[in-house]
Amino acid sequence: MVVSVIAIDGPSASGKGTVAQRVAAVLGFHYLDSGALYRLTALAAEQAGVDWADEAGVAAVAEGLAVVFAGERVTLGGEDVSLAIRSEHIGVGASKVAALPAVRTALLQRQRDFARAPGLVGDGRDMGEVIFPHAQLKVFLTATAEARAERRYKQLTGRGEAADLAAIAADLAARDERDRNRPVAPLRQLPDARLLDTTAMGIEEAVATVLGWWREKTTLNT
Ligand code: DC
Repeated sequence: MVVSVIAIDGPSASGKGTVAQRVAAVLGFHYLDSGALYRLTALAAEQAGVDWADEAGVAAVAEGLAVVFAGERVTLGGEDVSLAIRSEHIGVGASKVAALPAVRTALLQRQRDFARAPGLVGDGRDMGEVIFPHAQLKVFLTATAEARAERRYKQLTGRGEAADLAAIAADLAARDERDRNRPVAPLRQLPDARLLDTTAMGIEEAVATVLGWWREKTTLNT
């Protein structure tokens, strides 16, 4: 049986995680937050004293990640790290370890294993290109750098964390640059991906758009 896959790729703080999660909930599909795996790898490497630039060392950490996803909760070796992996510091580390080819290879099969019946919505940078090249629907979800910086700012302050809008914007720009220009699995819109620019769009409208595209696909194929 072919498992349905919706691949949603896009830059940091574009809202793709929220949209992907909601789409998965409406369709009753599984959900893969692939960025969380890179964040978990950065956190686990740091805890093990492995430098983020040590490719073989970080790949070994990625290979052995003892991670459990349970709804919103993520545990690493039994410890709840749901909040720890969302910090800006670990976001920077994730972007660094994600540029290492051996780390991407180490996480490849783990990501593909999320595709189980009846279907999966996966979000990240290379869902449509590398992990699920045969996804029935590919979406490139983005928003302007200003809109994304503002969203990240609201997210952080909403959690009670201190945040500086200019610093967030600079950090996002650096991360975008790294994600777009790395030699392996760079972030880019694929020719077969539909563009969803959410700059002037609320979550509900973005979710409805993806669901509309999905229904179009599935109606055409039945
Ligand atoms: O989506 P996010 O901010 O949680 O991702 C964290 C980092 O991981 C980001 O800088 C890019 C990287 N990433 C990646 O290279 N490939 C993916 N499929 C998902 C995330």
